Amino acid sequence: MLETRLIKPYITFDDVEEDFKDIFASGIFTKGKNVQEFQSELSAYTGAKYSFLTTSATTALWACLKLLGIKAGDEVIVSDFSFPASSNVIEDLGAIPVFADVSLETYNMLPSDLEKKITPRTKAVMFVDALGNPTGISAIKEICAHHNIPLIEDAACAIGSSENGIRCGSIADLSCFSFHPRKLLCTGEGGAITTNSDEWAKWLQVKLNHGADGMLGKALDFPEYGYNFRMSELQAVMGRKQIITLDKIIADRNRIKQDYVKNLAPLGFEIQKIGDNVKHNVQSLVFTVPANIARDSLMEFLKENGIESSIGTYALSSTGYNKNKYNCIQPNSRILFERTITLPCYHEVDVSYVVKNIIEFMSNQNK
Ligand SMILES: Cc1ncc(COP(=O)(O)O)c(C=O)c1O
Repeated sequence: MLETRLIKPYITFDDVEEDFKDIFASGIFTKGKNVQEFQSELSAYTGAKYSFLTTSATTALWACLKLLGIKAGDEVIVSDFSFPASSNVIEDLGAIPVFADVSLETYNMLPSDLEKKITPRTKAVMFVDALGNPTGISAIKEICAHHNIPLIEDAACAIGSSENGIRCGSIADLSCFSFHPRKLLCTGEGGAITTNSDEWAKWLQVKLNHGADGMLGKALDFPEYGYNFRMSELQAVMGRKQIITLDKIIADRNRIKQDYVKNLAPLGFEIQKIGDNVKHNVQSLVFTVPANIARDSLMEFLKENGIESSIGTYALSSTGYNKNKYNCIQPNSRILFERTITLPCYHEVDVSYVVKNIIEFMSNQNK
């Protein structure tokens, strides 16, 4: 049993007990006031005009591509350093994921690589806020606007982050969040889409509710066919309890990050670079390990000592499926896939214990 986890949810049963009792007593488990309120609160928090809660970031991303009419033969350019869901949804619609390489410092899509990969078949760009870091999204947005290509932000990790004072969720044309337990705001499973577009909001309202023309059980007709990607009332309560404390959680995480950086930078660990005009939620605390360290052996050593760690994230073009099908490995992303490590970061973490173990591993390696 690992005693030091990567993250622990910032919510307890006590926080939700009363509201859960009300939901059980009323029998309103879906399409109730908590979903409505959480959507409004998410809009207020992100600055987006509209928010739609979903079952996950994956269904949110899939719905956004569907909304944009992405179909077989279309190309969607996607940041290569990400969780496979980012390209899986493109693949699922029969479209072609075009992998854009990323910066070795910020881990985010390189504008120069994006420019190179735009073709007449490019129908959307998916920028991933790698590990919660939106650095560079505004530059990508300018390129997309110049080419008249819609920008989807895979903000699965980025609730609470911002660039140039604009929060993730209201920078891109469409943004998708995850509320999975590894994320800062946890609803068990869950996600959301935000947008400022009236037209797209209408589409989402109908399509995410089976194609019905009403939300609160008042549908008169089904003018469209549609889907059910809805979040439940219980999950929405969890989200509402956390969104009010999010900024405090982010401030705490930034303090923990500074503690790690102070100790690990002198050992040659390089922290993910965050732009000067960026607020980072520190969703995942990721370092590139020094060249003389075997990353996987370090992870194994930490595990033996009760400390959970993981790779930074994946290189999409290097996963088995994409390598076999597209054979176009992105070099920087591949390096990050092999050289980055995520370390535990949450309110109860004992940073000195993690650092002590890293130092011990390094001195054993040098013997
Ligand atoms: C960048 C990114 N996109 C999408 C997802 C998928 O999120 P979900 O589990 O909510 O579907 C994840 C999950 O970790 C992610 O990190």
